[in-house]
Amino acid sequence: MKLHYGRMLTDKLDGQHGLTRNRLQELAQRFPAVAAEVETRRGQGEYGFLELGGQTEVTKGIRRFADGVGQAYDHVLVLGIGGSALGMKALVNALKTPAWNELDDEQREYFPRITVLENVDPTSIGAALRRIDPRRVFVNVISKSGGTAETLAQYLVVRGWLDQALGPDAAVRHLAFTTDPAKGPLRELAQREGIAALEVPPDIGGRFSVLTPVGLLPAALIGIDIEALLRGAASAVDQAARPELLKNPAGLYAALLWAADASLGARVHVLMPYSDRLRELAAWFVQLWAESLGKKLDRRGQPIHAGPTPLGAVGATDQHSQVQLFMEGPFDKVVTFVRVEDPGEDVRIPNRADLPEELAYLQGHSLGELLRAEQEATSAALARMGRMNATIGLPRLDAEVLGELIMFFQLAAGYAGVWYGVNPFDQPGVELGKRLTFAAMGRPGFAKEGSVTVDPGLPADVIG
Ligand code: PA5
Repeated sequence: MKLHYGRMLTDKLDGQHGLTRNRLQELAQRFPAVAAEVETRRGQGEYGFLELGGQTEVTKGIRRFADGVGQAYDHVLVLGIGGSALGMKALVNALKTPAWNELDDEQREYFPRITVLENVDPTSIGAALRRIDPRRVFVNVISKSGGTAETLAQYLVVRGWLDQALGPDAAVRHLAFTTDPAKGPLRELAQREGIAALEVPPDIGGRFSVLTPVGLLPAALIGIDIEALLRGAASAVDQAARPELLKNPAGLYAALLWAADASLGARVHVLMPYSDRLRELAAWFVQLWAESLGKKLDRRGQPIHAGPTPLGAVGATDQHSQVQLFMEGPFDKVVTFVRVEDPGEDVRIPNRADLPEELAYLQGHSLGELLRAEQEATSAALARMGRMNATIGLPRLDAEVLGELIMFFQLAAGYAGVWYGVNPFDQPGVELGKRLTFAAMGRPGFAKEGSVTVDPGLPADVIG
């Protein structure tokens, strides 16, 4: 993959906005200290995700497990939320044919269909359970902590549904948990009931875990090349070992986005792939960037309230929606495009007699050409308006390239944590919401968290 970053710089924009070459030079001078901090912290057990490219034993184990599950099931149902769902959804979206679940067995080469339930909206779960045959489903419950209310509630509902249809003993054979190796309610249940359980490495947080069994097991079950994913990830890690900023893509990306925020107030970081197959990747990036960098305290425990606001968009669709804002609204954004040089399939726009001139120009071109022209035009138009933007060019969209892209963003989040001065691996804000939910639902030991009702007292500030 290639990172085109020229349009982050003043001399490639309108001469007024953007980062100067001098600023880029300063960033390059500061980068060795940033890289050194990452190395030190890696030595202390943070940045565990950097080791994921080399986990051949883990992939072998997952492959064995997936092969053992084999063709006994034609549907994989995944239960998880946040980092335990978003990355895997990105894998499915990018690497399986669109509308995968609508294909027949032969078109799917007998790999199962897949449904990911990440919310506790009863209407989604009710509809899924009516659609799926419990006799032919394999359920993967994913929770690193093993105690997330949404996932555990989903599990209890799905478990009741399986028990009722198959009986409790048979139900166990339809289940696998992916959770902490030793701790948490899911691990305890797995041990008690003899349910198969895979491990989430304790040193890897949810949003950095797609390349662990969290994403790899469902991926392997539906026929994604998990070895290639990890090869791609390892190649991104190799590139990040380069000490010079201008040769280190993830280091440079993080430095540019941080500098755009810190010195130019560009605190909205948009990821806009020109590919429907990367729509879910944008959602995954939003979580990675938001949860890793949005922090109240800095590394020394001082209030900082830092963090860029990530935003997902998809080209060309959002050219008719958000791009008006990107083009003419406040100068508070950086747009990163992702384009796929060879989309693997193209559709020619056919010729037709007697078309009006305003349509005739499209004839003989292809949809792929149009999509590419739109990306280039949007990037150039933003630059002309003085709007910082960068483009990540992917040669194609396969498992290896996707693994590299995922690791590139994880590395960038890890570097950005150092530039922002925050711990990118915790999420105390999310934890408070979890505790208040436990209190509201009556979990023992959480009553002290207090009331969470919308109107905690009188007068009730409510209308309508
Ligand atoms: O990135 C994170 O750490 C979070 O988004 C978690 O993935 C999310 O809260 C779900 O947690 P768990 O996997 O423990 O159920």
